[in-house]
This record gives sequence, C-alpha cells and structure tokens, in this order.
Amino acid sequence: MRKNIVAGNWKMNKNHPEAKELMEKLLEYKKGHSTNCEVYIAPPAVYLSEAKNIFANKEILVFSQEISAHSSGAYTGEISAEMLASLKVEGSIIGHSERRKYFGETDEIISEKIKIALENGLIPIYCNGETLEERKENRHLQVIQQQTETALFQLSAEQIQKVIIAYEPVWAIGTGETATPEQAQEIHAHIRGLIAQKYGENVANEISILYGGSVKPSNAKEIFSQPDVDGGLIGGAALNVENFSAIIEAFN
Ligand code: PGA
Repeated sequence: MRKNIVAGNWKMNKNHPEAKELMEKLLEYKKGHSTNCEVYIAPPAVYLSEAKNIFANKEILVFSQEISAHSSGAYTGEISAEMLASLKVEGSIIGHSERRKYFGETDEIISEKIKIALENGLIPIYCNGETLEERKENRHLQVIQQQTETALFQLSAEQIQKVIIAYEPVWAIGTGETATPEQAQEIHAHIRGLIAQKYGENVANEISILYGGSVKPSNAKEIFSQPDVDGGLIGGAALNVENFSAIIEAFN
C-alpha cells in the first residue's frame, strides 16, 4: 500500500554549520517522536555524505535535489546516479520546476534521469505541475497528462511503482499561495487515473503522490486529508525544525 511521506527540499539554502545544526535537530526530533509518515530530506549535494552519517539508522531518508542524465565522464559539475547510490543516498528529486525553468530541463531529459536513477536503485521523486498561465487557460489537466506520460510512461509496471510523484503547481511554489485542497485532489486523482488506465488500478494505488507548493503547518492537515494526497514536498517550511515537524504531525 502506498506510503504517507513528508519530504523537505532545502534547495540552495544553509551553510555548513546551519545545515549540520538542522540535521542534528531533526534527528533529535525524529528519535523522540513516532510519526505516521516517512520523513525525507533533500539537502544540497555537498552535505549528502554527512546527512547519511547523521541519519545512519535511516531515521530520515536522504535524497539529492538533482541527478545527472549521464552515467559518467566529462560532464563538469554533474553528480551521477552511481555516485549517489555509492553514498547510499535513497533517491533524488527529479524534474523540479526550478530545474525546468532555470536549467532548461525538458520532460525528455527528466525521463532519462528517472531511468538512470531506477537503474541505480534510487527512488525518483518526480515533480510536475502547471504554470499560472496554463491554469488560467484551463489547460492544467492536459499539461499534467502530457508531463506524466512523457516522463513516466516508458517505465514498466514494476519500475513505476518505485517512483514517488510530486504535483507542484508552479504558481504555488515559494509564493505563499497554496492550491486549495480541492484543486490538489483534482490533479492527484487525475494523475492516479492516468496511471490506472495505463498500468491498472493496483499499480496506481501503490504510488504515493505528494503535493508541493507553499505547504505550511496551518494548511498541511487539510491538504493531506484529501483521498489522493499522500503527503507533501516542502520547500521554505522545511528549513526549520519547528515548521517541518508541525507538518509531519499533520499525519497524527
Ligand atoms: P515551497 O517549495 O514549499 O517553498 O513552496 C516547494 C518546492 O518547491 O518543493
């Protein structure tokens, strides 16, 4: 059965002492509380090795924010799936809208990244979402369908069940504006329906679909209570233990 998940995407925030302090506080929190969801963090890549040491008993699973579509070689600055797997990092966020917008990532590249992650035993957190313009033009369902099909539908049924999907409307990321629980539910049900059509209901029901975009302690419970929302991918509110733990507790 699919899991409830709260995942923190730190983006390009925190210097080393700050990152270490947050990880240590998160470990202390996690040891002192039983939670009804799995907790993941995606710190900047330079801290992944340390994160794996701090969370040595998998109290929190560690994800990278990015992964190369290439397996190895002359790609200055890139981090390969094999490198991440050799650190025992659990997975990678793939296809975040900031990567699409600022680094030109297309659904085709994203699809390659998902494949290479899976080949190396990493869990992809595949992100999709429509822009404000696409929503205003009432094209959001269509956009999500196209993104989902291009990025995921070449996978086998066995592979797709290993993928976590994060629906993140671009207009809600870092803006303070959140999708209403109904808007989130509509898209999540749409994504699950597309997967059910292609792979069957059983496969679709195994896949966790997270919502991301200005999730806060004050709105997490309502969003997570929607039937097809299995948790959240959290940006700004994952940067301190008070907010992040309050979001984790939305599942209690
Ligand atoms: P936000 O970011 O929570 O700061 O809106 C979410 C994300 O980009 O994953």
